[in-house]
Amino acid sequence: MSEELNDCVALVTGASRGIGRACAIELAKAGCELVLMGRDTEALEATAQECAEFCDTIIFYALDLADPEAMAETVEDLLESTGKLNIIVNNAGVRGPLDTHAPFDETVETLEVNLLSMMRLNHQCIDAILSSEGPKAIINIASVLGKVGLGGSAAYCASKHGVVGYTASLFEDLRSSGVKVSAICPGFVNTAMVADRGLAGERMIQPEDVAKTVRFVAEFPGTGCPTEIIIRPQMNPYSA
Ligand SMILES: NC(=O)c1ccc[n+]([C@@H]2O[C@H](COP(=O)([O-])OP(=O)(O)OC[C@H]3O[C@@H](n4cnc5c(N)ncnc54)[C@H](OP(=O)(O)O)[C@@H]3O)[C@@H](O)[C@H]2O)c1
Repeated sequence: MSEELNDCVALVTGASRGIGRACAIELAKAGCELVLMGRDTEALEATAQECAEFCDTIIFYALDLADPEAMAETVEDLLESTGKLNIIVNNAGVRGPLDTHAPFDETVETLEVNLLSMMRLNHQCIDAILSSEGPKAIINIASVLGKVGLGGSAAYCASKHGVVGYTASLFEDLRSSGVKVSAICPGFVNTAMVADRGLAGERMIQPEDVAKTVRFVAEFPGTGCPTEIIIRPQMNPYSA
C-alpha cells in the first residue's frame, strides 16, 4: 500500500483484461478503491476478484464506452456511489482496421473507442476530480503509434496521435489545479491485442510494466508531472 494513493478512488477502463487488468491490480495494491469498466461482465468479475485480495471496495460496470448514453448513466451512478474520484486510467482501446480498404465504419469505431470516449469520459468526470480531496490524475494509455506512423494502422495511429495531442493540451488546461495529466506510449505489450502478430511474448513489454508506470505517474510528487512516457520493449520482439 502507498501513503500517496491510500483511499483514492481510481477508475480504470478496459479493465477486463490485458493492460487494464494489470493497472487495476497495481492500483489495488497501492490502496485505491476501484471502479472498473469494460464490456465483458465475466472478465470484469475476474479482474475484481483478483483485486479483492488487495482492496475492499470494487465496483464494475459492463458497458460499451462508445455509447454516450450508457456512459452518461454509468458516470452518474458511479459518482453517486463513490462520492469522489481521484484517478482515471483511460485504457480501453481497439486495434482497428489493418487495411485501408476496410469499411470506413471500422475507422469511425476506432476513433470513437480510442479517442472520443476517452475525451467524453474525462469531460464528464473532471468536476468530480477537481472537487475530490487527495491526489488527482488523468492517465491516458496512448501508444508509440501516437508518435510515429505505421502502414496498415492508419485509424489506430490517428486515434493515438489524437490521444497524445489531447493529453498535452489537457495538461496545460488542468496543471494549475494540480491534476497530473499524462500520456503513456508503449510499444508492443504482451496482450491479446497483438497475440496474432507472431511476436515473442517474453520479449515484449509486459502489462505489469505499464501498470507500474501508471502508478509511478499517480504517485509522482506534486511539484512535477511526467506528461508523456514512451516505453519500448528492451529486446526486439520480432527476433526469436
Ligand atoms: N498491446 C499493445 O501492444 C499495446 C501497445 C500500445 C498501446 N496499447 C493500448 O493499451 C490499451 C489496452 O490494450 P491491451 O493491449 O490491454 O488490449 P486488450 O487486451 O485487447 O484489451 C482492450 C480492453 O479495452 C476494452 N474495450 C475495447 N473496446 C471497448 C468498448 N467499446 N467499451 C468498453 N471497453 C472496451 C476491452 O474490454 P472488453 O473486452 O470487456 O470489451 C479490454 O478490456 C489500448 O488502448 C491499446 O491501444 C496496447
